[in-house]
Amino acid sequence: MRKVSVGFLGCGNIGCGVWKLLQEFKADILHRADVEFDVKKILVRDVTKKRDQVIPAELLTTDPAQITDDPAIEMVLEFMGGEEPATRYMVRALEMGKTVVTANKMALALNWHILQEAAEKHHSGLYYEAAVCGAIPIIRTTIDSLQANRIEEMMGIVNGTTNYILTRMSQEGSDYADVLSDAQRLGLAEPDPTSDVEGFDAAYKLSILSSLAFHARVPFDVIYRQGITQVSATDIAFGKELGYTLKLLAIAKRAGNVIDARVHPTFIPDDHPLASVNGSFNAIFLHGHACDDMMLFGRGAGSAPTASAVVGDMLYAVSRDTPRYPTFHNANTLSDGLTVTDDWHCAFYVRLNASDRPGVLAHITACLGKEGISIRNLMQRDAVDGHAQIVLITHDAGECAINKALKAIASSDVQVESMIRVER
Ligand code: HSE
Repeated sequence: MRKVSVGFLGCGNIGCGVWKLLQEFKADILHRADVEFDVKKILVRDVTKKRDQVIPAELLTTDPAQITDDPAIEMVLEFMGGEEPATRYMVRALEMGKTVVTANKMALALNWHILQEAAEKHHSGLYYEAAVCGAIPIIRTTIDSLQANRIEEMMGIVNGTTNYILTRMSQEGSDYADVLSDAQRLGLAEPDPTSDVEGFDAAYKLSILSSLAFHARVPFDVIYRQGITQVSATDIAFGKELGYTLKLLAIAKRAGNVIDARVHPTFIPDDHPLASVNGSFNAIFLHGHACDDMMLFGRGAGSAPTASAVVGDMLYAVSRDTPRYPTFHNANTLSDGLTVTDDWHCAFYVRLNASDRPGVLAHITACLGKEGISIRNLMQRDAVDGHAQIVLITHDAGECAINKALKAIASSDVQVESMIRVER
């Protein structure tokens, strides 16, 4: 039997979940892997705070060095969240030769190169399954099981809060602000929801996932990001009529050496596998040249699902003779030879408010035609007060072309109310 001494950096929701799983599953872990994880110290902000789990007081400390610098601690689990001081503490632990397991997508997405450099230099392990989509084993699937694939496309629902909000907006016909405040009241959205609703959380996860999928660093700052705060019940309802479901998708595509990576509200056909992923569930749909289409579905957050990924990483780490690092040169910039395009191609949903007068539709179609954009569906609602709602869906077109066309369409007779990208 191998005994591994462990230190926690942080003990909130996830830390308590890991503590609980390690206690409850101790005998199974021993039986399955012949390992016993012995928690020696836990860094907390306040040792007197009441926690979900009863943790012996002598384990708690407010001094990070008691974890990062204690030679008796072999493995450090990081659950602090945020970029700093989490990155600094993890670097220190790696420099001290410890294995680090983290659930921190922000620190990893922004400082992966720094963490990996410290890990490689000191032959320390760095594992992060819990940083992306909680319990879903997408990291291990990408780097292990799908190694024999050239992954060309990934589309994911990687943020549970926004999926919960959009699901309720769609099912109830409610407005964004009403569902958000209800979700906050129920504790399903953070008091400050910015990271989730503005797409930061999803973009951190996409940076990590697309880097692993494409074997190239795709830094956070090259990812286009648009959140759900401007999504309207009107657009969701029109989309439904046309057979589409609205999701906040994290999308990464690679064609040769050109990548596009983006997070934005997206219409997908109702029969797309991601369309039925509702509530706070996450899912990642990907395409590899050998595996074809694949989807992984599960809980992307929560104490126990995240603990499942953390403890899985702990067991993976102890089962390896040497640490496992990504295949690519990990710098803070896009890998050499690659370019990121902001002129991706997809279909577009457009809603216009137009004066109900002769020639207005001709003006709209002429502006689209000038940019080589062809219309697939067009719907006009009876005019109210001389103004008609026009909703159209284009065939595939370029992002730059649609933006140019919409700029030309906007006039005294036509207001562009919304544009939403459509994927298939
Ligand atoms: N806030 C995230 C979500 C969970 O709503 O999915 C942690 O990444």
